[in-house]
Amino acid sequence: MLTQRSEIVQNITTIKNLLSIAPIIPVIVLDEVEKAQPLAKALISGGLRVIEVTLRTKNALKIIEQMAKIDGAIIASGTVRNFSQMQNSYNAGCQFMVAPGTTKKLLNEAENIPIPLLPGVASVSEAMMAAERGYQYLKLFPAEPIGGVKLLKSLISPLPELKFCPTGGINKDNLKSYFELANVISVGGSWIATKQLLENNNFMQIEKNAKNALNIIGALSKD
Ligand code: 3PG
Repeated sequence: MLTQRSEIVQNITTIKNLLSIAPIIPVIVLDEVEKAQPLAKALISGGLRVIEVTLRTKNALKIIEQMAKIDGAIIASGTVRNFSQMQNSYNAGCQFMVAPGTTKKLLNEAENIPIPLLPGVASVSEAMMAAERGYQYLKLFPAEPIGGVKLLKSLISPLPELKFCPTGGINKDNLKSYFELANVISVGGSWIATKQLLENNNFMQIEKNAKNALNIIGALSKD
């Protein structure tokens, strides 16, 4: 029992440290392996080292492998929904994994993977269920459609120990309103490296978007 508890605490420390490295996490949907390294380099030059690569394309794991080789990159897999995706994420070089939702099966299986999971929640009950399992850091998804900033504000008092990484509908215009909330540790989204920018190999604009995003929250800091 004691061993289990200390493993959970350690898991929380690891995910907290990883999320604290970058307040903004670009969410990537990409299938062209040759774009993986230029993209990671652009994001890192723009100041964003933590990158979530969604497992929504055929070559996502190859892209993760390529990005993980870049100095300074911290790669998470995204859209993780089952055990084999979690195993593959670890083998490809991910340092953590992000799930869009939370199921008991996924949380059980995540205990057998050596890297931490950031599980997604969309309701108070789901957040309570994840918290009961020892998760203190959660993804809130899809943030904007389910209430966004208003929802997060309403969670501060009843769920004071939980911290969220909201994603879904976040962009340069609403970023600040999310990041300034006490229960938000970082925010994620696809607006930094959009489909169109990736199609056009516009890595320069991606780097600018990363820098702009950091400037927007520049004055704000998290403990
Ligand atoms: C995610 O997986 O977190 C979302 O797809 C990102 O949402 P966005 O595309 O609205 O930024």
